[in-house]
Amino acid sequence: MRFGYFDDRNREYVITQPDTPLPWINYLGCQAYFGIVSNTAGGYSFYRDARLRRLTRYRYNNAPFDFGGRYVYLRDRESGQFWSPSWQPTRRELEKYSCRHGMGYTVIGSTSNGIEAHTRYFVPLDENLEVWQLTVTNRRQTKARISAFSSIEFCLWDAQDDATNFQRNFNTGQVEVEEGVIYHKTEYRERRDHFAYFACSEPLAGFDTQRESFLGRYRGWDSPAAVEAGQLTNSIAHGWAPMGAHQVTLDLEPGETQQIVFLLGYHENPVDEKFDPPGSQTINKKLVKPTIAKYLDAAKADAAFERLRQYWDSLLGIFHVNTPDIHTNRMVNIWNAYQCMATFNMSRSASFYESGIGRGLGFRDSNQDLLGFVHMAPARARERILDLAATQLPTGGAYHQYQPLTKRGNNDIGGGFNDDPHWLIVGVSAYLKETGDWSILEEPVPYDNKPGSEQPLYEHLQRSFSYTLARLGPHGLPLIGRADWNDCLNLNCFSDTPGQSFQTTTNKDGKVAESVFIAGLFVHAGRELAAIASRRGLAAEASHYIGETEKMLMVIREHGWDGEWFLRAYDDFGAKIGSKDCEEGKIFIESNGFCVLAGIGLEDGTALKAMDATGKHLATKHGIVVQQPAYSRYYLNLGEISSYPPGYKENAGIFCHVNPWVMIAETRLGRGDRAHDYYSRINPSAREEIGELHRCEPYVYAQMIAGKDAPTFGEAKNSWLTGTAAWNYYAIAQWILGIRTTLDGLEIAPVIPTNWPGFSATRIFRGVTYKISIERQGEGNRIALTVDGKPIEGNVVTPPTDGRKEVTVKGILS
Ligand code: BGC
Ligand code: NOJ
Repeated sequence: MRFGYFDDRNREYVITQPDTPLPWINYLGCQAYFGIVSNTAGGYSFYRDARLRRLTRYRYNNAPFDFGGRYVYLRDRESGQFWSPSWQPTRRELEKYSCRHGMGYTVIGSTSNGIEAHTRYFVPLDENLEVWQLTVTNRRQTKARISAFSSIEFCLWDAQDDATNFQRNFNTGQVEVEEGVIYHKTEYRERRDHFAYFACSEPLAGFDTQRESFLGRYRGWDSPAAVEAGQLTNSIAHGWAPMGAHQVTLDLEPGETQQIVFLLGYHENPVDEKFDPPGSQTINKKLVKPTIAKYLDAAKADAAFERLRQYWDSLLGIFHVNTPDIHTNRMVNIWNAYQCMATFNMSRSASFYESGIGRGLGFRDSNQDLLGFVHMAPARARERILDLAATQLPTGGAYHQYQPLTKRGNNDIGGGFNDDPHWLIVGVSAYLKETGDWSILEEPVPYDNKPGSEQPLYEHLQRSFSYTLARLGPHGLPLIGRADWNDCLNLNCFSDTPGQSFQTTTNKDGKVAESVFIAGLFVHAGRELAAIASRRGLAAEASHYIGETEKMLMVIREHGWDGEWFLRAYDDFGAKIGSKDCEEGKIFIESNGFCVLAGIGLEDGTALKAMDATGKHLATKHGIVVQQPAYSRYYLNLGEISSYPPGYKENAGIFCHVNPWVMIAETRLGRGDRAHDYYSRINPSAREEIGELHRCEPYVYAQMIAGKDAPTFGEAKNSWLTGTAAWNYYAIAQWILGIRTTLDGLEIAPVIPTNWPGFSATRIFRGVTYKISIERQGEGNRIALTVDGKPIEGNVVTPPTDGRKEVTVKGILS
């Protein structure tokens, strides 16, 4: 069953039923001011950091779901009836409900008793504010006398403290109301130089800023007393829960439409210009007023919306494909690229599943996210790389996370995840391949953000590589540390205390447990680094890297191979994990997928065996599970992986992030049918039909789909913020369609299904537009290329040297 449909021409997903199985969300903003918005207008906003600069309040895991939002109420002044055009919070029955989630905007609306209303929410580029354009049309035969109300609830900035520290917070809330604009200034009197504002384009018939005055005693957002009465109370908040609501009177002739613009924004004043007049306690509004005036003008708001559209046109124009599969096209051309932008911006901080207070930006996550993002905004990717590298520790290890507001490593989580440093090499390599900007390697970057410790970025990569060499275990494989990619394989944790963090508790000295996955990653990163070194003329250094990866390959062959597949790890007792000899957890996806992705075992048949075993033991109709058999009980020596009931998350769930490693691995074996089949099993668009089972949004990937051991096999969870976005994008774009960035140029190496007659693509790469068409003439993956009509040797198209800005590439597959 579906709950809506794709409108590909407008790049929208249109939800036609408000009570979707779960809130289906979208993101507003793509630079510094962000919001999440659900299909019923739930969600919240923040500036840069969802924990530390939260503008509005949201109630996670509420019943009913999804409370706190950008709510609008309409009230018929004749009948006294009131409703919300976005369904929540009143949940009155509506006609023609629709929610259009688009690229950086959402439009939600409906009709009720002949009154049509919809609100368009978006964040203009380069601004720290969101625009709500509410359009109300009278579809009745008679005049309509309506009141419109806006409402938001302010968060007292630090979302964690806001949700817990009531003895203090019930005393601190402060607002000002001036010329109809509601200013939220809690803590502005002391150390904050920022405030929020909520403005309205129309003359007000009333306002409220104190939640209890608006809602009335023991009433909720579904039936605010002031809306029911038809008159806001002009309350001023002193402590308790500051909020913002405006009331506007609309008298509409039959057929008449009126628009109201509401603005919710964030503003920072210079520290010495906080107050006006100076010495007072009144917010200086001079600097923000022009911005407010600008966007309250509907024409200017429309122009800003148009700019946002053009921005997305140009971003999504960088890579565009036309294949025989509509789900591939839609994900590559629209939604997967869009999701990559969201994961880049949010890392894993704020979604319906990530509370915005739990996690900062992950070192390994953000580096991997670059794979799906770097082509869209290379300058921002560059900045991100330098920020990440600046949190690297002098040992070459890394803080596992950093807070986006401070850009400092998070001490609470610390480091010691021994895969982390290698992802920096992977991220930088992706950046170099995309941009050819070698200057980034010369950028001075500190360690642990310590002034004076700056070294060229290149040195950070060297230390990343050496980090592992200094941490090899008894078999010569990399020590796993706290965990590797699989945060839940905690081989040094040995936690028997409820509530202890699996990720940060370490009870063993960590000198024994080893990871075959890190070994594969080391080989991959080492080869990338060697290629970079040799391009820099450092031949001896390059051969050192190659030498070390060769040694690691031997170790993998000797101690990392189980006969039919790659082992996963050795535990603290030196016992195998991911082996036929294990009782449970005999075979794992990560080491198999990644080793073959890295090209390990292609020459001796082990890669083929590993992928056949992966297909046989781990693949299901809903995707490939992490391991089999699932752990049926808690294992002290394995940690969090065995804390999950079988079939969920890392315990044999379908962890979508790692499925593309297998897809890429299959392309390395030349098996395009299998690669694309795996791709399709987890492609959310291809799963739209089974919406009732899948439950999450059909337009973005979820981190996990319940595995075959779970009672809810096929049910997705944790949509949006997952490495799945970048890896699937990378797998389909660069390995299945095979349009691959390399240090030298664009490699064309499709490994597509045998029944595809071909496909075409447009790729803008280093300022040149490549028009690519691939035609299948035989069943294999051999490719013959012509570039602007001339056959070329090999399959790498090098950038034109004669200033051509458009290049036509034709490929014949046989
Ligand atoms: C989850 C992992 C996640 C980790 C992050 C665990 O509970 O299962 O998927 O990476 O938390 O801290
Ligand atoms: C989610 C985390 O964000 C990511 O870093 C990790 O690799 C996976 N979970 C697997 O545990």
